[in-house]
Amino acid sequence: MSTPVLVAVAWPYASGSRHLGHLAGAYLPADVFARYQRLIGNDVLMVSGSDVHGTPITVRADDEGVTPQDIVDRYHGEFLRQWEELGISWDLYTTTGTENHAQVTQDMFLRQLENGYIDRRVSEQFFDPQAERFLPDRYVEGTCPHCDYEEARGDQCDNCGRTLDATDLVDPRSKLSGATPVLRETEHFHYRYSDFEERLKEWLQSRQGWRSHVLNSALGWVEEGLHDRAITRDIEWGIELPVDDLGPGKRIYVWYDAVIGYLSASKEWAASTGDPDAWHHWWTNPEARSFYFIGKDNIPFHALFWPAQLMGYGGLELPTNVPANQYVTFKGGKASASRGIGMTIQEALDRFQPDAIRFALAAAFPEQSDTEISEEEIARRVNEELVATWGNLVNRVLSMMYKTCDGKIPNAGQRAPEDQVLLDSVDAALVTAGEQIEAVELRAALRTAMTAAQSVNAYLNATEPWRLAKTEPARGIDVLHVALSAINGVRVMFSPYLPFTCAQLDEILGVPSGWAREELLPATPLGKPVPLFQKIEL
Ligand code: MF3
Ligand code: ZN
Repeated sequence: MSTPVLVAVAWPYASGSRHLGHLAGAYLPADVFARYQRLIGNDVLMVSGSDVHGTPITVRADDEGVTPQDIVDRYHGEFLRQWEELGISWDLYTTTGTENHAQVTQDMFLRQLENGYIDRRVSEQFFDPQAERFLPDRYVEGTCPHCDYEEARGDQCDNCGRTLDATDLVDPRSKLSGATPVLRETEHFHYRYSDFEERLKEWLQSRQGWRSHVLNSALGWVEEGLHDRAITRDIEWGIELPVDDLGPGKRIYVWYDAVIGYLSASKEWAASTGDPDAWHHWWTNPEARSFYFIGKDNIPFHALFWPAQLMGYGGLELPTNVPANQYVTFKGGKASASRGIGMTIQEALDRFQPDAIRFALAAAFPEQSDTEISEEEIARRVNEELVATWGNLVNRVLSMMYKTCDGKIPNAGQRAPEDQVLLDSVDAALVTAGEQIEAVELRAALRTAMTAAQSVNAYLNATEPWRLAKTEPARGIDVLHVALSAINGVRVMFSPYLPFTCAQLDEILGVPSGWAREELLPATPLGKPVPLFQKIEL
């Protein structure tokens, strides 16, 4: 029976080049997970898109003296090219700038307004007296009132992860002019998050298999108490309000609309298939499961605010799991696009094979704690693990077989006990790796695959087919057949991680039709083997 699985992936701001921390934190784990789910036969819908609203975009446009749309076009185009090169297998990668997204957002707003979860309030917001503008979100920086971090932004503190209201900041300063902002009254719509405290707490407590850091932070924040928050801003760039009670100059807040992207993208995808109702399969079906792949700074929005929005709308499924990752650090500092720390995705693509990048990052996915990634570490992992253990193994076995078996796969021979031990261990590893991926322990599953590859190497070292070729050629061929059969299973485990090089093996080994080791097809021509990976020279 196939289960509908929604793979929902954080929407990157189209405000600057993304770095390896983003790739390791959200896009790559999502892709590995989605590829596995497809392979076991589930109905996967993997969606995301560029987040085109909010002050990250407008601050950048102001700095460069161009329009927000210019910024969006530049980076959305860049992201699309990079997903292609990296093999991120979206069903749809769109943007929050579509007409469809605006409609879905406005529909959600109106329903929640009707349901009484949105109300209007006058409050004091920061205003820059020199620039004569309101200063939403990232237009203000200052000191975090919770952890004293001095570079906190008006929307969130990067240090402790808490969401903030700009007016909470200690020693606020305007990003526009450096001036000390003044308070001015303004009217906004607020979402009544506090109405959902009890329901969110119960829901969170009923979650199974969540990462402890995700569940603990989310529960901790609910216990501190949820504040109602403004979901509109004094800004010209953003989704228009479907009601005109507030007058001009107001737009929907980026974080209210961005999370709705998961739903609007699902609807856009459905429309593109010619079956506009197809999205229901993942959203109104209690059998469906949904996994939200995000970095830890996004936890409050996905484990609290988005579920509260869904509850206030009604009839849609809440997240099954939010397997948020911790941070990737470069030389001890958190990778940050806006602060220019860490290697960009483009820099990595200019230097390394896509599968090499995927491997090195997956081996270091920051699932439980912050993880350091450097160029040296990428090179070491690729050379000492990927090439030495897997690439060379495949190449060695294929080359020996090519030479001693007339360039094709031989028939299976008599199997000795040690042959069966190896094949059984690969089959057992497939089961283990599958369970690990189901539990979103993607780093562990990759380790399981690597250990299985090592056991094939150990088998070759023990049986020495290169020696048997001279002394007992028939047994030598049987051993190669066993080794390639084992490789056939190991590559299934690697395939969600290394899609490009695993696809290169499909010609010889066939396209995997499930999460299992299949028998080799005798007489398949081998072709002259070419190494799957290049060693990295720094
Ligand atoms: N644009 C946000 C960021 O980069 C992430 C948005 S995730 C979404 O932090 F789901 F809300 F879109
Ligand atoms: Zn803080």
